Amino acid sequence: MALGDTTDGSSDPFRLRNSDVYEYEVDSPMALYGSIPVIYGHTSFSTSGVFFHNAAEEWIDISYKNRPSANFFAESGVLDLFVLLGPSPKNVVQQYTSLTGTAPLPQLWTLGYHQCRFTYESQEDVKTVVATMIEKDFPMDVLWLDDGHSNGNRYFEWNPENFTDPIEMQQNVSAAGKKLVSISDPHIKIANDYAVYNEAEGKYFVKWANGSDFQGECWPGMSSYMDFLNPEASDYYSSLYGYDKFNKTTETLAGIWNDMNEPSVFDDSLEKTLPFETLHYGGVPHRDIHNIYGFLHTRATHKGLLQRDKNTKRPFILTRSFFAGSQRYAAIWTGDNAADWSYLSTSYSQCLTANILGIVYCGADVGGFETEPDHELLQRWYQAGVWLPFYRGHSGKETPRREPYLFPENVQSVIRNALKVRYKHIPVFYTLAFRHSESGDPIIRPLFYEYNDLLDYDEHVLVGSDILARPVMVAGATSVNVTFPGSHYWYRVDDNSFQIHHGGNTHDIPVSITTSPFFYRGGSIITRKDREKLATSHMVDDPYMLYVNLDENNTAKGLLYVDDYTSFDYLNNYSFLYITFEYLPYSHGLRIRQVDGNSTGIDISLQEIIIHGNPTNPHEAKLARNALLFIISSLKYLLRQGIAIPGHSDEKSNIRQLLLLRAEDNSDIKSWLNRTNYSGFRMIF
Ligand code: GLC
Repeated sequence: MALGDTTDGSSDPFRLRNSDVYEYEVDSPMALYGSIPVIYGHTSFSTSGVFFHNAAEEWIDISYKNRPSANFFAESGVLDLFVLLGPSPKNVVQQYTSLTGTAPLPQLWTLGYHQCRFTYESQEDVKTVVATMIEKDFPMDVLWLDDGHSNGNRYFEWNPENFTDPIEMQQNVSAAGKKLVSISDPHIKIANDYAVYNEAEGKYFVKWANGSDFQGECWPGMSSYMDFLNPEASDYYSSLYGYDKFNKTTETLAGIWNDMNEPSVFDDSLEKTLPFETLHYGGVPHRDIHNIYGFLHTRATHKGLLQRDKNTKRPFILTRSFFAGSQRYAAIWTGDNAADWSYLSTSYSQCLTANILGIVYCGADVGGFETEPDHELLQRWYQAGVWLPFYRGHSGKETPRREPYLFPENVQSVIRNALKVRYKHIPVFYTLAFRHSESGDPIIRPLFYEYNDLLDYDEHVLVGSDILARPVMVAGATSVNVTFPGSHYWYRVDDNSFQIHHGGNTHDIPVSITTSPFFYRGGSIITRKDREKLATSHMVDDPYMLYVNLDENNTAKGLLYVDDYTSFDYLNNYSFLYITFEYLPYSHGLRIRQVDGNSTGIDISLQEIIIHGNPTNPHEAKLARNALLFIISSLKYLLRQGIAIPGHSDEKSNIRQLLLLRAEDNSDIKSWLNRTNYSGFRMIF
């Protein structure tokens, strides 16, 4: 959304001072948890940007008088300014991420559904939620351990009463194919029976000018605050994640949640954070680095997880506070929202903005953290959450429990369906995640990113460039207004009608509570996994579905990226499979080419190919004999063998082609289906 004028007396300037704000106002220039001091200027013919790289508090005034301008004020620090020349939105984003980095490829499970609660009270509670989610057929990859798992907010220590056998709990969760994430905040409880406090006291904390440790209140009561600017303190903190230090943890505890890291101090007279005159390592006043405190926290955690797992696993961290470049270490969420429709719709603006500022892994507490959502809002939130890269249900301590199975069957069914839609599209998210890590291209995009003129459509989201979602974000909706961008066909998917809408139009689409419209772009090939599974760990060997969505010339293209979903082999050994699918009309059919990578050890197979549109001469559709081989064997095998196709072999360029649809072969689909276990080939006209 375009920023409003802040100089006409109607608003304060935008304030960038990372702050713990309870139930923040939506659409306000007020300070919030994170800051990214970047501004983009956009017109229908050019886009440019400015990145004011300064970690102190900043204020920004926007004026549209005469010509649009932005004035930056910083509390302290140096003038380190980058101008991003564009000229397209894609160019500015790439220029910005080339300065601050892209988000590395995450593990696959992080893209599934996360179930959280402030707080799961005991190991029995955890096991029951995991088991009931399975019993009631809700996909879920991760259960989150908020502060209840810890020993009175002594992080790195288990609650000695309710989490007495964490190893058994982790084994139980792991046997179900799920993971855990636990919370670890930067405040350290002042307590003589807490090893971390004893080891850090007087050495590793933020200090007053007289050398004494700063002490302030947060969740554990009086606490001191780790000074992550101090390399020794930061390394010490990283070491705490080691299996030897954070006792009784296993790799099932696969991610860490860094919260309260603005940092939050429960003292209104300090505007709820460290006093600006407290000092960090080297005598640096907090004033100078306030906005990177959370960034430094996640950097230390990231290092800790890498060390813990001996560089064999990609770390996952969620952070509340962030700064430019935080994407290199952590995902974000939009903090303590509330169960209100305005927070649902603002979550789209927030995460779309984060995506064009490099922080692609963004989501909101589904259902709202504070207060209790009615059933309609909850269902709509689950439907909208499907399309945000980070998908987590969370609820506050004072609210009634909200696990999806606690609702009437009709509500459960809507939530279940939303989760299943997400899981079917996991291959799309994973491929986009890889693409982002390489190019900086956002995973989700506002319409203007791809279609210059379409500003202010924040309730629409493009997932990559090929999926358009337009969830319902108001109460009592009977229709939604959908703007179909560009001049493509858009195929309606959510109701299985695959009805074509023409780009360049806006249509009212009728909705019921079970409908959350989304569309595939004509000219795209969407790769999905449609076998319904309850965790990504159970989907690894599942075959792919290809949804071929023809454009007006009967062509379509798609991408698929696959690797071991966990390790760094894709970087170290170049071990991944990265392929394009291309559908061409007439006798050419579907071609598969390897873009890059060494696919050794990566097997995939196809389940079904569905073609939407109006392919030329559909009555001639036949499967080539070669195609049978392709479908029943692994793609890797075929790419290595390089099946020769008469007139199409292209061995010199090392591009292997395969035709699935060819008129010249006589084996018709039905008889072939009878001879194999292959589940089908379908054309929709
Ligand atoms: C903060 C977080 C919230 C979390 C709570 C307890 O309020 O924003 O998500 O549940 O702290 O750790």
